Amino acid sequence: MGNLFSCWSGDDKVTRPSDQAPQGLSVADVSYIKSTMNKLYKNGQLLDFGMKVFKDLFTTYPYTRDWFPAYHTSPNEMEQDDNMIALVVIVMHTLRSYVDYCHEEETLEGLVEKMARFHLKRYVTTVDMEIFSSCVIRQLKKLLGIEFNAKQEKAWTKFFALHNKVYGRIETEWLDPLSHLSVTDVTETETEVNKKAQ
Ligand code: HEM
Repeated sequence: MGNLFSCWSGDDKVTRPSDQAPQGLSVADVSYIKSTMNKLYKNGQLLDFGMKVFKDLFTTYPYTRDWFPAYHTSPNEMEQDDNMIALVVIVMHTLRSYVDYCHEEETLEGLVEKMARFHLKRYVTTVDMEIFSSCVIRQLKKLLGIEFNAKQEKAWTKFFALHNKVYGRIETEWLDPLSHLSVTDVTETETEVNKKAQ
């Protein structure tokens, strides 16, 4: 959780609420992230971009194809597969909804948490999400060229770091449902379980 009203950011820099959006994204970061997404959307490039990201994912990390047995995942067949097109559209629009809410910490976290639960049931880990993030950034650079400069790359890198942090937290809770409880809570929970078992 970001601390919007904290005056001290941990080192000796002063952080003012007015120039710091939630989750550590600055107002400038939010603006860079949104303008990149708007560019893709307005130019009608979202599906094409999404296809490129998935092609990158499937060719650079072939093990990820195993999650999609019902889809055509080879680079020359993907674009002819209506099922694949539908998946790419859904994933890209979900990513777009994250971007739409990247200035609103709680909403963004809620969206990522929901998707994390869906994916964790399919054993997609935080590392897989990190890999996917690297493909998105690589393809943004390729597609937008000089329009995707160092500042924009930094903003997107921060954005995915936040996404993956939330995902990682849900993964930890998923692997160990008691992990978010304090020692006292765990002891109390265990006592309750023991009582019920008797
Ligand atoms: C930010 C990254 C990602 C987003 C936003 C995302 C989003 C989505 C969405 C919206 C769906 C459809 C949900 C539904 O049918 O209700 C989906 C399905 C799925 N995603 Fe992701 N996804 C991401 C990354 C990944 C990665 C990295 C993998 C694995 C390598 C993955 C594996 C899957 C699988 C296996 C399905 C189900 C496909 C099916 O059975 O039809 N996703 N994803």
